[in-house]
Amino acid sequence: MAEGVSPVDEVLDCAVEPGHPAGFTPGLKDLRETCDWLRDNAGQVRRTLHRHGALYLHGLPVRDVDDFARVRDAVVGERACYREQATPRSHFGDEVYSSTDLPPSQSIRPHNENSYTLSFPGVLVFGCLVAPDSGGATPVTDVRSVLSGIPEPLARRFRETGWGLVRNYADHLGLGWRTAFGTEDRAVVSGYCEENLVAHEWCADGHLRTVQRRSAVIRHPSTEEEAWFNHVVFWSEWALDPDVREVFLDDLGPENLPFNTAFGDGEPLSAEDVEAMDEAYRAATVRETWKPGDVMVVDNILAAHARESFRGPRKILVAMGDEVSLSDCSPTVPPLAGFVTAAAGTAAGRAAANHAAGGAAQDGKPGRSSRGWLRSRGRSSG
Ligand SMILES: [Fe+2]
Repeated sequence: MAEGVSPVDEVLDCAVEPGHPAGFTPGLKDLRETCDWLRDNAGQVRRTLHRHGALYLHGLPVRDVDDFARVRDAVVGERACYREQATPRSHFGDEVYSSTDLPPSQSIRPHNENSYTLSFPGVLVFGCLVAPDSGGATPVTDVRSVLSGIPEPLARRFRETGWGLVRNYADHLGLGWRTAFGTEDRAVVSGYCEENLVAHEWCADGHLRTVQRRSAVIRHPSTEEEAWFNHVVFWSEWALDPDVREVFLDDLGPENLPFNTAFGDGEPLSAEDVEAMDEAYRAATVRETWKPGDVMVVDNILAAHARESFRGPRKILVAMGDEVSLSDCSPTVPPLAGFVTAAAGTAAGRAAANHAAGGAAQDGKPGRSSRGWLRSRGRSSG
């Protein structure tokens, strides 16, 4: 350790180039040595993540899923798994997944994994086995910068109301509820929703609709910094290609979009709101071109991740760990099944007002009380 540097400040001596995530090359050819190095330097790795949000490790001797699983186990204390799945992905065993099985032509906007659940992974680990011919990076975005880049009135409104999410789980469009929840049993899904503050309704055609309110801004439990932590832009109707949005709205109706987001009181977002948030993401996004053996570690609260479209074969693995409870992150509003007030004029609002069941808010009354959530976790949400 250099003289005058306290252990608490010690971080890896990373390369920090504009436009790229912080990078480091351990330079160890042997997997066992690499895992030992990761364990021996766990504190530095974690502090580097806290400073930069993500750490790109170049050229690790990772050649298959087993190698990757060993690296993951050297990086995270405890493994975490997916809940309320949102994207098709392959499970390779050992809690190692494909990053997504969505078609190569589709890019994915930045998001924090599982920002809509009551607990979520604190750390994500990505690894490259096969690099695409072009594109296909996993860009990362420092969401502390996103929060400071969002116009103040808009950020304030989200702090005061949270964000709302309406999902429709239909087999013919996106993920059906059986895949997303990993069960054939409706009662299991209903039980999950009731336990996890998700308002839900079984629709006449057999699909599932859910509504939940969450905090759009949370505080990192270790660094105590505030971060923009949500899927507001990614799942907004305004993030759809305009032609696709029009077809969806005409064919499905606004309440049946696979995903839509709103302010936490159910009021609709405007295209301009989404553009302002999108701009804040763009300004804070960095990317690296994958090479086989590269591994990227992401602090899931401090950094969002995305996917570029790509050409050629691509095999990027992902695994998660070190679960964090929302109740430890000072949410600005407590989580809620449904919205606080029913709103008209927005797909999300209409869905909440007209369709969401199981305690979704109606007529200005709160949805199923968050007090139970607070009680069960034994602390105020702030
Ligand atoms: Fe993701």
